Amino acid sequence: MRQAYPMTEESTQVVREYAEAVFRRYSQPLTPPGFEVDWSDAPPKNTTYPGAPMLAAPRWSARQLGRLPDLLAAGDDTDRPWTAAEVSTLASLAYAVQERRVAASWNQDLLTQTHYPKATWSRGTASGGGMYPLEIYWVAGAGAPTRPGVYHFHTAHRAWQRLANGDHASAISDACLGDTGGQRADQFLVVTVRFWKNAYKYHNFCYHVVTQDLGALLGSWQLIGRGLGRQLRPVLWFADETINTRLGLVTESESALAVVPLPGPPPTGNPPAAAAVRAARFERSSRAFQPELLAPVHRATLLTTEARPAALPVEPPPAPHGTGLALPELPAQRWRTDLSAALRRRRSSFGQFSRGRRLTAAELGGILRCAAAGLAFPTDLTGPAPLARLHAVVNDVDGLPAGSYTYEPAGHRLTPVRVEPMAGLLQRAYELNNYNMEQVAAVLAISGRLAEALDHFGPRGYRLLNAVAGSSAQVTYLAATSSGWGAAPSSGWTTRCWTRRSD
Ligand SMILES: Cc1cc2nc3c(=O)[nH]c(=O)nc-3n(C[C@H](O)[C@H](O)[C@H](O)COP(=O)(O)O)c2cc1C
Repeated sequence: MRQAYPMTEESTQVVREYAEAVFRRYSQPLTPPGFEVDWSDAPPKNTTYPGAPMLAAPRWSARQLGRLPDLLAAGDDTDRPWTAAEVSTLASLAYAVQERRVAASWNQDLLTQTHYPKATWSRGTASGGGMYPLEIYWVAGAGAPTRPGVYHFHTAHRAWQRLANGDHASAISDACLGDTGGQRADQFLVVTVRFWKNAYKYHNFCYHVVTQDLGALLGSWQLIGRGLGRQLRPVLWFADETINTRLGLVTESESALAVVPLPGPPPTGNPPAAAAVRAARFERSSRAFQPELLAPVHRATLLTTEARPAALPVEPPPAPHGTGLALPELPAQRWRTDLSAALRRRRSSFGQFSRGRRLTAAELGGILRCAAAGLAFPTDLTGPAPLARLHAVVNDVDGLPAGSYTYEPAGHRLTPVRVEPMAGLLQRAYELNNYNMEQVAAVLAISGRLAEALDHFGPRGYRLLNAVAGSSAQVTYLAATSSGWGAAPSSGWTTRCWTRRSD
């Protein structure tokens, strides 16, 4: 069923073709022949607006957010207005630089990371290739706990840089096309992507990765929000250029991907007519280029005045055959780690997986349940119909035969698809060389209903689906860390190895 908005079949086709090019990139490379990353011209990972006043992000004193299963079950939602420390906690815990990483792994940056100027710094949220291309802006209205204006979060300094004064909250609210997910708010976090921070390395693959990065950040925010007693409902359907203009951004180089209302009193007054931000950010690269597929796919997803479609109608994909294996429950005391500690300790395993200790079926089930919750986090576009499903490829799990399974969250069951040894298939399907799949207990795979998403939401469905996948990947990390295991997401798979039916 097509929606009543004028997103053209042509723009949907641009996105469909881009997605297909992404899926076949290992047989037909996405980058032009001879492309080499120019590391010497890389952009800084932390964006700075030189000369803009810098205000230290207030520290949040409670230090405990809660344990993952409790947070996923949390239903309470306080209407207490957001404090500056709470807003800053979202930004800091999820995206600020944390600590230096120097560890032997199978990655290629092993030597460079030992030199201070090229050091690797961790963050609470994963990012494809460690590029961290997302930017966080706080648009504070008259009722916000800071002077009304537009602030940019400086990820290295844990500080807000004030880029503009004035109350621009109602302009952001209006750009949400008539609805901020039923929420009244006069302060918003706007997540944007600076494409070049990813594109200088990933070239045409950029759009796929950064839209999953968005999901990872929103996944962290959903959990941190719950730890603060809040249910966040990010808005993904908004007039892109309206918000970009307000933030002083050029859509081709930096563009909004999500607006997160922080509920409170509604915005008051008319916003100043002009663009809010005129400050210029620091640029280091002198040889920046536009990957040829990036601007067309991004342009195709932009909205202007289109009405928000209803959520996808409930029409679950056909259930696989058989009744499946019921997964044992993981005792509550096994979730030892507070979310704030899990965000600090989370890291990609990068070839360090080892079969020395066996994952149990209950542990795998506990992680799957969290990962499935990450697929279903609320947004303005999400409804009861799942856009994506989880699968487990079991290599070495105590209590489960090796094989591939589909996870059914309702019954907490695994339905077998193929029962046979998986290590060889996993290794052949993984196109990078930083993992020994023989040592991996299990691989969780996310399959998405791309055709339905594009049909229903138009090109914006692609962004939504990637956000859902990124969010689940981030929750999987946190679930593994919280229950004493390692994890790492990876896009480096040959997709045809996974494909079955339409998902
Ligand atoms: C969307 C996404 C895709 C990723 N794809 C890969 C991948 O294909 N291979 C890989 O080794 N790591 C992948 N990663 C992991 C990142 O490289 C990792 O998060 C980043 O280097 C930061 O390291 P950390 O997770 O240890 O903090 C991906 C992460 C995300 C969020």
